[in-house]
Amino acid sequence: MKKIIIDCDPGIDDSLAIMLALQSPEVEVVGITIVAGNAPSKMGFENAKKVLNFLGRLDVPVYVGADKPRVRDYVNALDTHGSDGLGESFLPVVEGQSIPSKSAVDFLKETLRKGNVSVVALGPLTNLAQLIDEDLDAFLAIERLVSMGGNFRSHGNCSPVAEYNYWEDPDSAKVVYNTLYENGRMIEMVGLDVTRKIVLTPNILEDIKKANPKVGDFIEKITWFYFKFHWEWEHIRGCVINDPLAVAQFIDPGILKGIEAYTDVETGGISLGQTVVDSMGFYRKTSNALVYTDVDVDAFWDMFLNRILSLY
Ligand code: RIB
Ligand code: CA
Repeated sequence: MKKIIIDCDPGIDDSLAIMLALQSPEVEVVGITIVAGNAPSKMGFENAKKVLNFLGRLDVPVYVGADKPRVRDYVNALDTHGSDGLGESFLPVVEGQSIPSKSAVDFLKETLRKGNVSVVALGPLTNLAQLIDEDLDAFLAIERLVSMGGNFRSHGNCSPVAEYNYWEDPDSAKVVYNTLYENGRMIEMVGLDVTRKIVLTPNILEDIKKANPKVGDFIEKITWFYFKFHWEWEHIRGCVINDPLAVAQFIDPGILKGIEAYTDVETGGISLGQTVVDSMGFYRKTSNALVYTDVDVDAFWDMFLNRILSLY
């Protein structure tokens, strides 16, 4: 089993990613760290607990991190994820689950220093940039860093060129990508180029409900708002579930294919939050990112459905 920390901003698709990870025998989720993003960090903590409670996995510790981006003002995505950050499912807050005194970054430090732990980042990279500030060695001890974020040739979802996680906190994304470059390390960028191909459609949801009514009901509760948002804004019948693809790639590195390239993040101006992927080597800099461009969609759904349907 590979040990992972999921750094996330639950969030509807973050929740589906947590479900996939905890239903996968290849990974051991040693902890979940919350970052402000889709939802404010306290709401994200509560939502993570709601998902863990549904899964019967309240044993997985959850720590709270940054409540705002490194430099910019905080901009949530509750318009997409609903006023409760979980698709306006309004699931009850899980009793007796108080926020630990230990911060997300302290948990990251102590856990990563033990070695052989990877990070699957599903939200803005604020916690990871703070980790770099406070303990570079712990950050460099990350075995694999997989981030749902950014975009290469695909258009943005927060601006013509920027994806939400890196648009919400471009300064932290830049710190992470630059630090990886300076230390000869790589990030696996699971961006919109590939995640846009992972669409939970009404048909797939119906199949899930028939095959496992309890799981189907839960997923329907937390995604109906997301379906509505996608129809209104992108005229998609269904919803793009970005984050589970990052978990799937961690589990099966064959699901995605891509290119190695030097990548940087714009932190100002009209293209704020854009990942600038130097696929042609103009800057003559060594690669710091594996930028995914192609996805085996069937392989993703095989993995996702088989694992979540085996719940209960
Ligand atoms: O742009 C999509 C990403 O931003 C996903 O991780 C979603 O959960 C939000 O965090
Ligand atoms: Ca997310």
